[in-house]
Amino acid sequence: MCGIVGYIGKGQAQQVLTNGLKKLEYRGYDSAGIAVYDGEKVQVSKSKGRIAVLEERLEQSPVLGSLGIGHTRWATHGRPSDVNSHPHTDETGKFSVVHNGIIENYLDLKQELQEEGVTFVSETDTEVIVHLLSSLYDGDIVSTIQKAASKMRGAYALGVITEYEPDRLVAVRYASPLIIGLGEEENFIGSDISAVLEYTRDIYILEDGELAVITKNDVTLMKIETLETVQRNIFRVDWDMEQTEKDGFEHFMLKEIYEQPNAFRKTILNRIDSAGKNIVFEGLQLSSEQIHRLDKIFIIACGTAYHAGLVGKHVIEELTRIPVEVDVASEFRYRRPIVTDKTLVIVVSQSGETADTLAALRESQRLGAKVLAITNVPGSSIARDADEVIATVAGPEIAVASTKAYTSQLIAFYLFGIYLAQVKETIPEEERKVMIEALCKLPEQTEVVLQHANDIRMYAEAIKGHSSLFFIGRGIDYAVALEGSLKLKEISYIHSEAYAAGELKHGTLALIEEGTPVIALATQTELYEKMASNIKEVKARGAHVLGVTLEENIELHRNVDDVCLIPSAMALFTPVLSVIPLQLISYYTSLALGNDVDKPRNLAKSVTVE
Ligand code: F6R
Repeated sequence: MCGIVGYIGKGQAQQVLTNGLKKLEYRGYDSAGIAVYDGEKVQVSKSKGRIAVLEERLEQSPVLGSLGIGHTRWATHGRPSDVNSHPHTDETGKFSVVHNGIIENYLDLKQELQEEGVTFVSETDTEVIVHLLSSLYDGDIVSTIQKAASKMRGAYALGVITEYEPDRLVAVRYASPLIIGLGEEENFIGSDISAVLEYTRDIYILEDGELAVITKNDVTLMKIETLETVQRNIFRVDWDMEQTEKDGFEHFMLKEIYEQPNAFRKTILNRIDSAGKNIVFEGLQLSSEQIHRLDKIFIIACGTAYHAGLVGKHVIEELTRIPVEVDVASEFRYRRPIVTDKTLVIVVSQSGETADTLAALRESQRLGAKVLAITNVPGSSIARDADEVIATVAGPEIAVASTKAYTSQLIAFYLFGIYLAQVKETIPEEERKVMIEALCKLPEQTEVVLQHANDIRMYAEAIKGHSSLFFIGRGIDYAVALEGSLKLKEISYIHSEAYAAGELKHGTLALIEEGTPVIALATQTELYEKMASNIKEVKARGAHVLGVTLEENIELHRNVDDVCLIPSAMALFTPVLSVIPLQLISYYTSLALGNDVDKPRNLAKSVTVE
């Protein structure tokens, strides 16, 4: 949702900024630009298109200097174009700003500024910020930003430079993420850690309502409202730079699909006691008494993380009998949810920055609930605001389509579900032990599924020419069907629908015709017969069916056109395995169609606007 970077220091800004932008490109890729102070003036280079287009432009006309800001855009206000690209400058060209977020009252501010005689050149909300700074400037960029901030409503992470004060870079955070990277005689800003990881592992995480005044050798954090100085501990990142590289894979998505077994191992590590009988969550403050008092659990998330929540509901209800409601964050926050101090709210977010999920977290806390976050990014806004955190240890996920983060979220739900059952004693100890053993087998079983990636590739070739597909399943398989369908839509652009298999005959069956591809998940032994009947119903209408089932159900091939077998696993654990072929189908279909797999059209990785 737009990425911003900034640099001040001993080196050349251009290289650092473009390197950082490439790491942030997953956040938006409609257009990109940089502004660099060359010792006399701020030079801006920006254009519509990917960062590669900007790089070509910079190769022809480099911008030299050691202070600069950069931006990669996901358009909200104003279509992608050269003029709408960031950085934005004021009429004098002395101020430059990059922005991630939305200024909600920009039309009012724009009108005020126009009445003062300011001419706007773009359709963006961001342009009001730079004109505001220019019109309010009082000789000190920090107090000017403070005045401008008091007029702006909405969400913003900003990088600001001005020719008047060429020894400072100012970073501002209000409800959009921003971090400061600390180097030797150089400092950085970035929308997230990956932007600066090539240069430093030491960072400050800016809090909402703070700004940072950054020079070559110093960083001062302040509250925007009072300009009072704030002390902050350095956060040391333990991710490796290599984890943000493709490592020989053609795309990040494929690399991340193959990283899943290790992501599971790391997420499970240290969370099972040495006897293999109990789940241990070091640092979890949720007391046994609080767990016994719970009368309801809400799981709140968006997109793929929401789909992980749907699996989480099956897991927690099955193991603990605590009722679980799953909600899309953007819906939850705008209705009047029934949340009390006996409710546990679990928010799920890979990035830890999704605006709607963060707002739902805060609303739940306001209503008196304890909030547990399952997130992949330590130090993210959601990780910091939640009362409790279960970290998924999947490592950085770069591809826009989430794979390893989703399955690691499932692992986190298994661990937490078993933990709740252990505290509430809702499943016998022996059964728990068997379950933990089965959980520990999942990484290896995932490796087995991945060995069959080539068969899946052939299937993808077969569906690439179709304009519509169906994913069907029952129970927990339906939750996986939803995820498979989303994955296919987002990167292949083929329309698909996920349906609860028993519900098809109530309307949607009318869409099945000769050759319609249907991917049928049939991994639940208890529901297998029912699912086999639903498969016959679509086959009878001409569907071409790929069945995904457990290896012991090999006879399914008699009822379907193609079959994909996954290793035998406990009913609750099959989603981790059955989703892998679906991820691969999406990947290979997108590849066969020549799409940009890692950066699908219209999307961005981290959705920090409502
Ligand atoms: C789809 C996908 C999105 C995210 C959603 C929430 O592949 O990645 O649907 O799951 O935008 O993002 P996080 O998990 O960062 O809150």
